[in-house]
Amino acid sequence: MEQQVQRELPPQIGDRLPTFNVQTTQGRKTLPEDYAGSWFMLFSHPGDFTPVCTTEFVSFEGNQQSFQGLNTELIGLSIDTVFAHMKWIEWIQDNLGVAITFPIIADELGMVANRLGMIAPEAGTRAVRSVFIVDPTGHIRIILNYPAEVGRNTNELLRILEALQLADGYDVKMPANWPGNELIGDKVILAPPTDVMKVQERMEQAEANEIECFDWWFCYKDLPE
Ligand code: BEZ
Repeated sequence: MEQQVQRELPPQIGDRLPTFNVQTTQGRKTLPEDYAGSWFMLFSHPGDFTPVCTTEFVSFEGNQQSFQGLNTELIGLSIDTVFAHMKWIEWIQDNLGVAITFPIIADELGMVANRLGMIAPEAGTRAVRSVFIVDPTGHIRIILNYPAEVGRNTNELLRILEALQLADGYDVKMPANWPGNELIGDKVILAPPTDVMKVQERMEQAEANEIECFDWWFCYKDLPE
């Protein structure tokens, strides 16, 4: 009888990132433990010496100050050797004048990429453009997958990081297109009340102009200065 190989399902939003001991261009690292206390963005790319990935690397590096302002470290990954990674970033430095300062994981056997579901079988054995944003406690807060054809939008990644951090800090939710929502501008949303006492409380807050509401389940307010 054929032996079935049991694969673990990839982790999802809210799960702790499984522990990985990895080889990077900046030495061995253990994820997520080595990043405890900061946010990090783990992003995979299909391969070294590819043009779209090169534009992403240059853009991520160019926005390092903004990522650092959000207490966020960057970590790249592809199924390539550490030698290929080093030659590629050397090429970027020599030809584009950009020094890549974030580590890149050499996931030669695809152990990390397979465990995290970064490989779409239809796309072959390369990793797709996945993004895992992990919070200071090691929990996955967002997973994004892009195809080989479309490079990531750095501004959107920064927007997501800022939105997650403000949502955590003020116990609010961020609307579509925040901070330029069509209905409520740069205001943020309060979680709908879950009992009648809280509904009453919300209505009193609205009456006192502390918050605004379209209805008891749809209230919003300014973020504190
Ligand atoms: C790239 O340019 O990033 C790319 C090109 C072909 C396949 C995968 C990635």
